[in-house]
Amino acid sequence: MTSNTPQYTWAGRFSEPVSDLVKRYTASVGFDQRMWRQDIRGSLAHARMLAKQSIISGDDLAHIERGMEIITREIESGQFDWSLDLEDVHLNIEKRLTALVGDAGKRLHTGRSRNDQVATDIRLYLRDAIDDILLLLKAFRSALVDLAEQEAATPMPGFTHLQVAQPVTFGHHMLAYFEMFGRDGERFADARKRTNRLPLGAAALAGTTYPIDRAFVAAQLGFDDVCENSLDAVSDRDFAIEFTAACAVLMMHISRLSEELVMWMSPRIGFIQIADRFCTGSSIMPQKKNPDVAELARGKTGRVYGQLVSLLTLMKAQPLAYNKDNQEDKEPLFDAVDTVTDTLRIFADMATGISVHPAAMKAALSQGFATATDLADYLTRKGLPFRDAHEAVGLAVKAAEQKGVDLPQLSLAELKSFSSLVENDVFSVLTVEGSLASRNHIGGTAPAQVKAAVARARQRL
Ligand code: ARG
Repeated sequence: MTSNTPQYTWAGRFSEPVSDLVKRYTASVGFDQRMWRQDIRGSLAHARMLAKQSIISGDDLAHIERGMEIITREIESGQFDWSLDLEDVHLNIEKRLTALVGDAGKRLHTGRSRNDQVATDIRLYLRDAIDDILLLLKAFRSALVDLAEQEAATPMPGFTHLQVAQPVTFGHHMLAYFEMFGRDGERFADARKRTNRLPLGAAALAGTTYPIDRAFVAAQLGFDDVCENSLDAVSDRDFAIEFTAACAVLMMHISRLSEELVMWMSPRIGFIQIADRFCTGSSIMPQKKNPDVAELARGKTGRVYGQLVSLLTLMKAQPLAYNKDNQEDKEPLFDAVDTVTDTLRIFADMATGISVHPAAMKAALSQGFATATDLADYLTRKGLPFRDAHEAVGLAVKAAEQKGVDLPQLSLAELKSFSSLVENDVFSVLTVEGSLASRNHIGGTAPAQVKAAVARARQRL
């Protein structure tokens, strides 16, 4: 980045240059240069519109197109000289264009302001980011379905309050996350609709005196429509806030899964193993294999929440229309995009690297009276009011606990002592398999239902 004598495009009415500190403080080129493709794309659409409307000549347009091609090559090959003196991505590219093609470059900014230009760039950038995220979500969810199918009949303890509650299958558990990440996808797709509107034409804030054709620019850039109001177009960033809110909810889901992965992989629990390529060791303890990826994702969730709060606070109480505050929208937004994109990419892969240990899950299931509800339901089916059944089973659990056994290990006589309704068929409901198979309705954990849910999930993908 060069730092020669400031040659600000706007310096006409100024009598002294800004200090180096102010220059560094106000510049955004260090981070907004990542939008260079969007900036060029937006400028070309604008220039084509200006030529079509005879606001600039066909020759000017040809020069602008030629200049932008050169600039594209320069940036792609790392030859482009980004300058702090030129503040941001917009002025850097415009200045270079003028150096390359002369007056035509100076005509590009006709009927436009950096205020509507930057809003356009961000929307284009975010639209692409959302499309990437939607693809990654699909890959991740598809990996979850594969895992669910493979383990559709694998019993594991389902927990409430982190206490063994009732048997579920590992496949059923995975499909719960499939649903959560599906809603996340819907949120991103919905935010995309409101992102995909064209601000250009709003100019600084009030619109422009030139006979522009906004619909033409919108069509060129693939926007669904134009922003209706020029003040709103340049000033609001609610679309970015909405996107980041969707990121925050997604990361909340990721953090829940991460927490479970970490727990399940703890040798004290030992439900799963995560492939070595997602784990790291300890520099002091040779025996360690840590689920670092899941832990980091859990940690990065806080970071994305922070970006959401940054953006909300940035916009709070901002008077209309554009204010320089808005330049601070990019780093939180880009960080949310990067964090979510990397996280999803890694999780889609990691989901294929999870192997389950059915024996450990089965052992855990035999320790928490996981089929107690099944026994209560059994007695209720035989005519006992549910509250009475609940109490009878509570006493049976207490007795089993004292004996140090699980419910199916009690004898028929022992079970009968809690309710005369108990008969020999009780043992089929006390097994984990019986418990699972009996939850046989849509949304239930019966292996047959999980397999059906897997089939529906594949169709929805
Ligand atoms: N770099 C600025 C931003 O990111 C571009 C818009 C500047 N407009 C202005 N009037 N200073 O918001």
